[in-house]
Amino acid sequence: MTSCQNVRIVSVGVVGVGGWGKNLVRNYYYMRGAWLKYVCDLAPDKLEANQLQFPADTVTQDIDVLLGDRDLDAIVIATPGNTHFGLCKQALLAGKDVFVEKPFTLCTAEAEELVDLAKSRNRVLMVGHLLKFHPVVERLKTLVQSGELGRVLYIYSQRLNLGTVRSDENALWNFAPHDISVILYLLDLVPTDVSARGQSYLRRGIEDVVFLSIDFGGKAMGHVHVSWLDPHKTRRITIVGSKRMAVFDDLESNEKLKIYDKGAEMNTDYDTFAEYIGLRFGDITIPYVRAGEPLRAECDHFLDCVRERKTPLSDGQDGMRVVRVLEAASESLKSNGTPVAIGSSTA
Ligand SMILES: NC(=O)c1ccc[n+]([C@@H]2O[C@H](COP(=O)([O-])OP(=O)(O)OC[C@H]3O[C@@H](n4cnc5c(N)ncnc54)[C@H](O)[C@@H]3O)[C@@H](O)[C@H]2O)c1
Repeated sequence: MTSCQNVRIVSVGVVGVGGWGKNLVRNYYYMRGAWLKYVCDLAPDKLEANQLQFPADTVTQDIDVLLGDRDLDAIVIATPGNTHFGLCKQALLAGKDVFVEKPFTLCTAEAEELVDLAKSRNRVLMVGHLLKFHPVVERLKTLVQSGELGRVLYIYSQRLNLGTVRSDENALWNFAPHDISVILYLLDLVPTDVSARGQSYLRRGIEDVVFLSIDFGGKAMGHVHVSWLDPHKTRRITIVGSKRMAVFDDLESNEKLKIYDKGAEMNTDYDTFAEYIGLRFGDITIPYVRAGEPLRAECDHFLDCVRERKTPLSDGQDGMRVVRVLEAASESLKSNGTPVAIGSSTA
């Protein structure tokens, strides 16, 4: 690490500069506290294209070049999910701090191994749960913590599109990590079991649409609908609380968050059943939430954790909690929605 105007510069190597990796490269290229030392990709054309836009000091097809550079602080992994475990492990063993895109790994055992490795080597390990760095999710967390919504009864999310059809993973592993991470973050409860149903309409064995229900021991419920075969592009999370309800619509340009002062209350003093349940229809408020690119905030946070040796908001444990839900959901998918218990560990 070197210093510039009192900011310690973190040297970064990005591995994987495909559709998403180039966004990470763009951020590290422009960040004052980062030095984009390497970009690594197996595909030479991706490296060439990158050098025209966001040139790194060195481009290479061989990750060993990064692993062997004793002065390189951090490695950012944005390759397909099935490579995350192997690349992460190599990077941690080489003594690097690591940021890895979602999904963290493809099974809990691998996630656990990486978490233990990072801990034993005293390395920063962060997972790309981008929405945790969204200003609206930050606001939602405050609303939940302050009790403004009351007790959160259930949260449901929709992440739909007629979009890129992936061949390496299904819509569950591709989209749902975002929603699961937000639901776990907001509820701060341990999920007990999950049930998932889905269909593979476009490619055999790769579900394009999945409906997932997560139970939190009867204390709250989460529901996630993901699909890349849908007429509407939708990115919405709804939180239903006992006092108020909130809707986060990420496709809205300015009014991304709406709070509904709506609810139902049981009256203790009533003559008829109609009077027993009182429905409340109050104001709808649209709080001001500062704008900001979540990806920039996420990259900033990673660098900050590397500099200050802090535990990231989306650390390996967080990644593992999400993988645990995904793993149980995959099992449930195979048995057409039979509820599957999620590991009892509260880690
Ligand atoms: N946070 C988000 O919102 C978000 C959005 C999209 C994708 N992602 C995640 O980012 C990751 C990459 O997704 P993508 O859409 O960019 O995929 P992609 O297929 O477009 O790009 C992956 C790149 O990795 C390269 N690669 C593969 N194995 C490699 C290796 N061993 N060494 C070096 N390079 C290697 C490929 O050549 C390719 O250029 C995935 O984990 C995906 O889930 C996250």
